[in-house]
Amino acid sequence: MPGEDEEVLRAVTYQEYFARGLAAVQGFITPGAAAAVTAILDLQARAGIGGTLAEIGTFHGKTFVGLALAARRDEAVVGVDLFVHQGQDFEATLRGHCSAFGIDETRYRLHRGPSTGLAVSAWRRLLGTPARFVHVDGEHGRGAVRHDLALAAAHLAPGGVILVDDVFHPWFPNVTAGVMDVLEGRVDLRAVALLDRQGPLIAGGPKLLVTSAEDEALYKEALVAALRGNLVGEAGFLTSRPAVFNFDEGVRPAPPAAPAPGA
Ligand SMILES: C[S@@+](CC[C@H](N)C(=O)[O-])C[C@H]1O[C@@H](n2cnc3c(N)ncnc32)[C@H](O)[C@@H]1O
Repeated sequence: MPGEDEEVLRAVTYQEYFARGLAAVQGFITPGAAAAVTAILDLQARAGIGGTLAEIGTFHGKTFVGLALAARRDEAVVGVDLFVHQGQDFEATLRGHCSAFGIDETRYRLHRGPSTGLAVSAWRRLLGTPARFVHVDGEHGRGAVRHDLALAAAHLAPGGVILVDDVFHPWFPNVTAGVMDVLEGRVDLRAVALLDRQGPLIAGGPKLLVTSAEDEALYKEALVAALRGNLVGEAGFLTSRPAVFNFDEGVRPAPPAAPAPGA
């Protein structure tokens, strides 16, 4: 996408970005996870679920750009990051990617600093309106994940979701431990879907979708409908039974529905 006519970039929707625009931004999200994020955002649009879109751990904006493209006029977009990696400041890179996709600086706000330094009260102030989508992808230690997931759950809109990156990733077992710490104590939350990783380990990890018990069926049905061709089944995880999706062979078209009896 970079290098194409600016007018073309300005016309990009979040669906087009997650399907074809990801290569323009360095970062970590697999095509399968991107297809699932699109399905989640599509459901929220259909169901009229609104609220802030937030990401803890934006890096260069590979996921953040797509979330910002999905925001409606009256919705806030918030990114939290240290914005420094190996001594290099990358905030300008993130802002540049947003700009390349036609996202004006007034459409999002960035919080610079560790998410682990944010108390719930500060998180609420930062987001304003409760969140409809939080991507948790910051520090990968057990305590940090526990903190970030609890933070995300503390200011979630009705119908909102939390997507946690690198759960069950072999390189980051403490991410799974941190998620379990939270889910064990929160019977109001459910793990709805496990989106397995694909391709090289560095390309992006598995993601776990978490929502409230009331919204579990809504999201599970929507993801199963959108990604039927990748559905493996369900797996017991603590008190949840997330639908499991495999993307080893890419995002597969959904198989045709079974013929009606007598057809
Ligand atoms: C794996 S990268 C995020 C990838 C990004 N979400 C994407 O879609 O490409 C992790 C990011 O978390 C940030 N990070 C690390 N520790 C953090 C902390 N305590 N608070 C906020 N961000 C943190 C890093 O600077 C890095 O940009």
